[in-house]
Amino acid sequence: MQLQVDAIGKSYGTTAVLKGVSFSLSDGEQALLLGPSGSGKSTLLNIICGLQRPDQGSVAIDNQVIASPDSTAKSDEVRRTSLGIVFQTLRLVSALSLRANLELAQKLQTGRVDSGLIDESLDRLDISHRAGARPFQLSQGEAQRAAIARAVVVSPKLLIADEPTSALDRENTRRVAELLIEMAKTVGAGLLIATHDDRLGDFFPQNYALDQGELKSC
Ligand SMILES: Nc1ncnc2c1ncn2[C@@H]1O[C@H](COP(=O)(O)OP(=O)(O)OP(=O)(O)O)[C@@H](O)[C@H]1O
Ligand SMILES: [Mg+2]
Repeated sequence: MQLQVDAIGKSYGTTAVLKGVSFSLSDGEQALLLGPSGSGKSTLLNIICGLQRPDQGSVAIDNQVIASPDSTAKSDEVRRTSLGIVFQTLRLVSALSLRANLELAQKLQTGRVDSGLIDESLDRLDISHRAGARPFQLSQGEAQRAAIARAVVVSPKLLIADEPTSALDRENTRRVAELLIEMAKTVGAGLLIATHDDRLGDFFPQNYALDQGELKSC
C-alpha cells in the first residue's frame, strides 16, 4: 500500500485550514499526525476518508485517486475497500450488538462476513466477553477497542484513527496505542493516527506536526 497525499488545501469560508499538505506512507508504515485542537487534523482525515472534499490537491492509494476536488464513484469504491476508520466519536451503531456492528462493517465493505477474523479481533482486543453488548453498555475503553475492532475486521490496506485515546487514562492510552500498532501489523495495514496527545509520540517512529495549516516532520 502506498498512500500519497499531495498538496491538499481546504478552507472554511475565508479561513484556510489546510494549506498544501503533502506526505506519503508506504507499505506497513505507521505515522502519527500531531496538532492542537482546531489545527485541522479531523479535516485532513475526513478528506482522506471521503467525508469531506478538498478544495485543492489529491489523495491516492496505490496510484488510484481516492480524494480530489471532483471525486468520482470509482474513488468511492477504492476507499470503501481500502480503509478502516476509527472515528473520533466512534460512531458505533447503537441499535446493534458489538458483534453485529462488526458483521455489518464487513458486509458493507467486503461483501462477506469473516467470523474467524471477528473472533480473533475481539479476542486480541480483549472484548470477546462483550460481543453481545450494545455500544451504550460498553465502558469508554471497551467502546474505543470496539471501534478499533470494527476498523480492522474489514482487512484494510490503511487503518486510520482520529484521537483514539482522548478519553482514556494513561494505562489505557498505552494499551490502545500498542493495540493499534499490533492490529495494523496483523492485517498488514499501514497506520495513520491523528491526535493532540503528544504522549503518543513515543510509540511512533514517524511523526508529523500540523501547524497553521502546514505539515512538518518532527
Ligand atoms: N464544517 C465546518 N465548517 C466550518 N468550520 C469548520 C468545519 N469543520 C471544522 N471547522 C473548523 O476548522 C478548524 C479545524 O477543525 P478540525 O476538526 O479539523 O480540527 P482538529 O485538529 O481535528 O481539532 P480537535 O483536536 O479538537 O479534534 C477548526 O477551527 C474548526 O472550527
Ligand atoms: Mg479532530
